[in-house]
Amino acid sequence: MLALTEPGNLPGMARIFSGIQPSGELHIGNWLGAVQNWVNLQRTYDCIFCVVDLHAITGKYDQVSLAIRTREMATGLLACGIDPARSVLFVQSHVPEHSELQWLLNTVTPIGELERMTQFKDKSQRFESVPAGLLNYPVLMAADILLYRADLVPVGDDQTQHLELTREIARRWNAEFGNGADYFPEPKPLLTEATRIMGLDGQAKMSKSLGNTIGLLDSPEEIWQKLRPAKTDPARVTRKDPGTPEVCNIYHLHRYFSPPATIATVADNCRGAKWGCLDCKRVLADNMILALGPIRERALSLQERPEMVDEILADGATSARRIAAETMREVRDRMGLMPRLRGALSS
Ligand code: TYM
Repeated sequence: MLALTEPGNLPGMARIFSGIQPSGELHIGNWLGAVQNWVNLQRTYDCIFCVVDLHAITGKYDQVSLAIRTREMATGLLACGIDPARSVLFVQSHVPEHSELQWLLNTVTPIGELERMTQFKDKSQRFESVPAGLLNYPVLMAADILLYRADLVPVGDDQTQHLELTREIARRWNAEFGNGADYFPEPKPLLTEATRIMGLDGQAKMSKSLGNTIGLLDSPEEIWQKLRPAKTDPARVTRKDPGTPEVCNIYHLHRYFSPPATIATVADNCRGAKWGCLDCKRVLADNMILALGPIRERALSLQERPEMVDEILADGATSARRIAAETMREVRDRMGLMPRLRGALSS
């Protein structure tokens, strides 16, 4: 997986922060666009990863299953290879400083900037009365990143606009309260080659909310049943029609799951109408099942030990809070809030 900025470009060990919403299953778009990169980056960077449950409540959600989905997301990340011995992994709401910093950053964030966010424009159309949380979503994201003064943020393409805004918020806060210094670094995105994986409908980005995903923990049969009806080259109506692999989403997915020789065979057999789309999908399904099998096995075994996952998240929250508390002391001080005589009660 490609890291566009190497650690050597930055003095000391650069810090990475990234997050994922527990709003549904962990899917191959998340994995190829971000999580696979997180796993690789933890060898060379100081990494902090977060299950962002507070972001997942900005729309309609099911409060009965939120905690379960939060643990499931953490389980999925551990199964992918996030290693608690190398990285900090925690749940956003377990570190209350995220919400506090968000409030303070609201004071330097222009509403106009929030209103022009593409995701806000899209998602706000689903509401008759738009919740303020949806508008302020990117400020919480800025708080997540700036709380740890992260240098780099590995994400998919859909988050780069939010990151631009984070940099803008950091600049404005530094100008106002930095006392001539850049207290908050301006974080840069780290993109993979798979910046935007399309959904199985071939129409939109693969997304939990659109139901066009393949889950990372899907069984071999589920993977096949989802791939079977997936959209391919629209111009290929019958098996005898020669296809154009470049316009086919299934071909693109082969690029991430199949070896180079297979990818070449797929392209050749598609152009020459030697394979039907189902043949091509069967090969993809087999390679996907092979790649995802070990992750699924690890997840199934972790699901048997939920208390171990909870322990990892509790340790992660303790480590995260140590850094967060230090940042908040500085931030409160620089913003002129009255110092506390005693520390706040731990929650
Ligand atoms: P979320 O939960 O939607 O997605 C998690 C990560 O997966 C990437 N991703 C994709 N990449 C390629 N193709 C796709 N189809 C695809 N779908 C999702 C996302 O870009 C993301 O990197 N707002 C964030 C969560 C967040 C966050 C943060 C991220 C909250 N605070 C701070 C970074 C830093 C989100 O909703 O991601």
